[in-house]
Amino acid sequence: MEKAVLITGATGGIGYELAKIFAAEKNNLVLVARNSKRLKEIKEHFEANYHIRVHILSKDLAEKDAAANIYREVTLQNIKIDILVNNAGFGDFGEFFKADWQNQYEMIQVNIVSLMQLTRLFVPDMI
Ligand SMILES: NC(=O)c1ccc[n+]([C@@H]2O[C@H](COP(=O)([O-])OP(=O)(O)OC[C@H]3O[C@@H](n4cnc5c(N)ncnc54)[C@H](OP(=O)(O)O)[C@@H]3O)[C@@H](O)[C@H]2O)c1
Repeated sequence: MEKAVLITGATGGIGYELAKIFAAEKNNLVLVARNSKRLKEIKEHFEANYHIRVHILSKDLAEKDAAANIYREVTLQNIKIDILVNNAGFGDFGEFFKADWQNQYEMIQVNIVSLMQLTRLFVPDMI
């Protein structure tokens, strides 16, 4: 069974920087984000430069079943996650009561619900 580090929000910012560090330390990676084009570019770059295996999953963590789908796809590929980096997330600015509800709902889904579901799904296998 192949071991890997799973990082959500790996296409930019802190998640991408963490992915680079784990890649340089020769960890195989499972990278999750929405932007599939950017994920493919990162996969090609890391596999060529760090000689590791990089699996990419284009998922929107605002979707209700995202965490379950990620866990299922990782398990089907016989990958064992021994480090989970729940990095993906976003914030908002402005007056709370004027903010767009759909955006606030997605923020809760990405920053809290999917994060908790991913942790609940992967931790038993780690233990
Ligand atoms: N930077 C800061 O000062 C700061 C401060 C406090 C907390 N944080 C938290 O630290 C984390 C990283 O911050 P950052 O500044 O590096 O953020 P960032 O540059 O905006 O990057 C966010 C990453 O999350 C992914 N992402 C966003 N929404 C997603 C969704 N619905 N489904 C899947 N992936 C999604 C984005 O990729 P795609 O667009 O490809 O999906 C991107 O890879 C976030 O959780 C942020 O809230 C950051």
